[in-house]
Amino acid sequence: MTKVFTVAMHKGGAGKTSLLTNLVGGLTVKYPDKRILVIDTDSQANALMAFGGSPQEFPTGVHNLFLGDRDVKDCIYRLLDNVDIIPSTDEMDFIEFEVLLDEWRREEPFNKLDTAIEDIRDEYDYIFIDTPPSMNLITGNALKVSDEVIIPFQPETFGVNGIMKVLKTINDLNESLNSDIKVFGVVGMMVDSRASLHTMLVQDARKYCSERGIHMFDAVIPKSVRFANATAFEGLPATVVESEDRKRHHIVNAYYDLLDEMLQREGVING
Ligand SMILES: Nc1ncnc2c1ncn2[C@@H]1O[C@H](COP(=O)(O)OP(=O)(O)O)[C@@H](O)[C@H]1O
Ligand SMILES: [Mg+2]
Repeated sequence: MTKVFTVAMHKGGAGKTSLLTNLVGGLTVKYPDKRILVIDTDSQANALMAFGGSPQEFPTGVHNLFLGDRDVKDCIYRLLDNVDIIPSTDEMDFIEFEVLLDEWRREEPFNKLDTAIEDIRDEYDYIFIDTPPSMNLITGNALKVSDEVIIPFQPETFGVNGIMKVLKTINDLNESLNSDIKVFGVVGMMVDSRASLHTMLVQDARKYCSERGIHMFDAVIPKSVRFANATAFEGLPATVVESEDRKRHHIVNAYYDLLDEMLQREGVING
């Protein structure tokens, strides 16, 4: 059964793309026979760039799915042996207008992505969707199509407020669209364990989540100056570049710990 994960947080720089691409990278290293599709819905196209691609190389992309003017199969490209991508371009900056201003397109505006990928969904074990830094029609579409949402929590921004707003959006969507979008879990991102503010905010987040029955993963991704500057330069996620045990950066180890925890949780959820 295909599992669709969306990484969502309505703020730029929260670690969405880093989290998504490193999880996908780690999955391909651990399970080279699993079929994975990345759908990049952020106009910045950072997910594609993390795998060494540049948006100009791709004549079609996720905007065509929102416009409904191309078959989904014409919008899928191979990234790695077992990873495909539906790329994004800056055309996504205009997509909300294009969908909402067109009488035919604005019908069921939150179902564009869901409908578009219906035919190819089953060809993958996992679909990972990256989202833009705001709660808009694009993110709404990504959430609507997902089984589970992964929420990155960066302890510098607005504390648990960000988590609260994402949870509310998911609840609202479930109520309005009669969907069953679940929260897979919250992940602490760019955590500096030496900073007492970070430790405190992560604790707050754990408490907030546990009081609401929301899962927060034990593994957190530490903050690193090297990663702040160099994540995408290798043309592959760090979890792929440093896939061998001995020379791994501690952040890469943290990603693999997180991945193990996620796979275990997935097993628990699916029985
Ligand atoms: N573990 C980390 N430590 C420090 N900086 C990081 C780390 N992970 C990612 N970054 C940097 O933080 C910035 C924002 O991350 P990104 O994943 O692009 O966030 P988003 O997709 O939510 O906008 C990027 O410049 C990225 O290189
Ligand atoms: Mg991003």
